Amino acid sequence: MIDRYSDVRNYLQVRYPDVFSEGSQSASTKRQYVWFHQCFHHFYQTYNKQWDNATAVLLEAGGGPCIYPLISAAPYVAEIYHSDYMEANREEVLMWRNNDPDAYDWSPYFRHIVQSLEGQTSHDAVARRKERLRSVLKDSAPCDFRANIVVPSVKTPVNIISSNFCMDVCYESLGEYIGGLKKVYDMLVPKGFLVSLSTLGLSWCKYGDVTYLSSYPLSLEDIQTHCKGAGFNILHTDKFDEPLESRNIYNDSVGYSLIIAQKP
Ligand SMILES: C[S@@+](CC[C@H](N)C(=O)[O-])C[C@H]1O[C@@H](n2cnc3c(N)ncnc32)[C@H](O)[C@@H]1O
Repeated sequence: MIDRYSDVRNYLQVRYPDVFSEGSQSASTKRQYVWFHQCFHHFYQTYNKQWDNATAVLLEAGGGPCIYPLISAAPYVAEIYHSDYMEANREEVLMWRNNDPDAYDWSPYFRHIVQSLEGQTSHDAVARRKERLRSVLKDSAPCDFRANIVVPSVKTPVNIISSNFCMDVCYESLGEYIGGLKKVYDMLVPKGFLVSLSTLGLSWCKYGDVTYLSSYPLSLEDIQTHCKGAGFNILHTDKFDEPLESRNIYNDSVGYSLIIAQKP
């Protein structure tokens, strides 16, 4: 069974190792991961009163084999639909949802978010968050940002779209990227939110054996301009400059950006 997921597992092990344990990674690598999770923590803590937690639907678009952006979201939404282009990624997420003993272990991420960021130190807080996420995570569906209908199974507009490190790699031109932002806009209810981490300055990245080329290395200013062009109001942005010592062989990024945008 594990063999079937070997590329996906390689991605997870390389991109999402346990960076939070003492001494497991360099301090600069750890800072980068801490920043990613602060972004989601900030978004859900700051804006959760702007939607009805009892009915809100979150779509994770191009989520890969990952659930990490959903850990901070779980208490504040009623339903989560994960989606990705690759079936193996969707299966990996459903393995976690279904408590499969072979599923990837996201426990270090849960501990960091629930205990360190949210300050919930009771002994069962992490277990309760896992349980909450498993109950609101309804499915992992096919997603193709290049298609006219990006996630065909999600038929009505959603309250929140979270899309991370996906739109910056899956298009061949800046024009298509801009078109993708418009599709995201159309998938949201009025007052709906986009929360998105992107890689800055990326011209190529390696994912398993495949190297994706990007002809549109993005700056934070570009992302803001194109989100505004798609109709969004920008509520918050942030940036993490990647220190030279943590640049790697998987991409040529110079840093990361957060954008929180709202459909009027
Ligand atoms: C760099 S990974 C990011 C995955 C995940 N969001 C994360 O944070 O690690 C890029 C993802 O984009 C997905 N992808 C590639 N082409 C796509 C497309 N046309 N539509 C949607 N997703 C796509 C890949 O399957 C992969 O999961």
